[in-house]
Amino acid sequence: MKKLLVTGGLGFIGSYFVDMALKRGYYVINVDKMTYAARTDVDFHERDNYEFIEEDIATMSHIPPGVDYVVNFAAESHVDNSIHANEAFYNSNIGGVYNILELIRAKDETDRPILFHISTDEVYGTAHAGSFTEEDKLLPSNPYSATKAAAEQLIFGWRHTHGIKAIICRSCNNYGFGQYPEKLLAKTIEFLLNGKKMTVHGDGTYLREWIYAEDNCEGLLTVLEKGEEGQVYNVSSGEEHSVIDAVKMIVAEMGMTEEEALVHIPNRPGQDLRYSVDCSKARALGWAPKTTLKEYIPTYIELYKKKLGL
Ligand SMILES: NC(=O)c1ccc[n+]([C@@H]2O[C@H](COP(=O)([O-])OP(=O)(O)OC[C@H]3O[C@@H](n4cnc5c(N)ncnc54)[C@H](O)[C@@H]3O)[C@@H](O)[C@H]2O)c1
Repeated sequence: MKKLLVTGGLGFIGSYFVDMALKRGYYVINVDKMTYAARTDVDFHERDNYEFIEEDIATMSHIPPGVDYVVNFAAESHVDNSIHANEAFYNSNIGGVYNILELIRAKDETDRPILFHISTDEVYGTAHAGSFTEEDKLLPSNPYSATKAAAEQLIFGWRHTHGIKAIICRSCNNYGFGQYPEKLLAKTIEFLLNGKKMTVHGDGTYLREWIYAEDNCEGLLTVLEKGEEGQVYNVSSGEEHSVIDAVKMIVAEMGMTEEEALVHIPNRPGQDLRYSVDCSKARALGWAPKTTLKEYIPTYIELYKKKLGL
């Protein structure tokens, strides 16, 4: 049984990943600091092949023996927060990765796990035309994506100099039940169900690629199982919608008008106009996303209604 040390496994995407990995028979040690974004409703704590350690990746002092992969999801992940105060982003997203690299380096070479690092399509910055491939330059535009790009640079440096083994995956925008309702779609559903208007930055015409968290995690596990050490993989859906169109899909499903549901607020500084990545490298490993946003929205709303007792 392969042993994974998953960090941030109580977070939105991490919790889908832990659940999937446990079901596939991996042994999972979940290290999570339990920030505000950690889920309290997961049901995998009692599984036999699972243990939990409440710890900060930036200060943890060792990696247990026999770990095959450190799968690093742990991060501060909300762009808006990074614009107002960046210290936690610096500490977790850069300091945490630095600490993990040093902990791997300190281990005997025969017991060094591979670092499987979860990054973001945001590290490329705006895709003015076409889609970024893994060979393209990193040009992050906001404080969050800058910390994610910095972490990748540390990994490249430690790999080249110290022989640390690593794989990096850059995922696009995830959606699904369990996401902390600061993120666009979860926030839209919760606001509207609570009778509040949803706020949209600017005119909302900036484009994002959307992927269901379960599809993303299947992609990540495919790369972990079949991908090549030392490589970077984009993990995305090719399903591109502007922010306003994605929000409008929810508004329409709830039977509301735009006037009833939405209010526009000033755009946020550093807003990228479009994210788009080419994920043919990951798809060549035999993976493809199965769900579309439009198909998932009715379930999405029902799950949040249940959560809110409506
Ligand atoms: N959400 C997205 O759409 C998206 C897209 C691409 C990449 N990513 C990346 O995927 C990863 C997970 O994103 P998410 O949306 O699930 O995040 P999240 O904010 O929902 O969860 C983050 C989890 O990490 C934990 N954590 C934070 N700092 C920690 C630390 N220093 N030590 C230990 N645990 C810590 C939190 O308690 C939480 O459980 C992040 O690295 C993010 O950059 C997210």
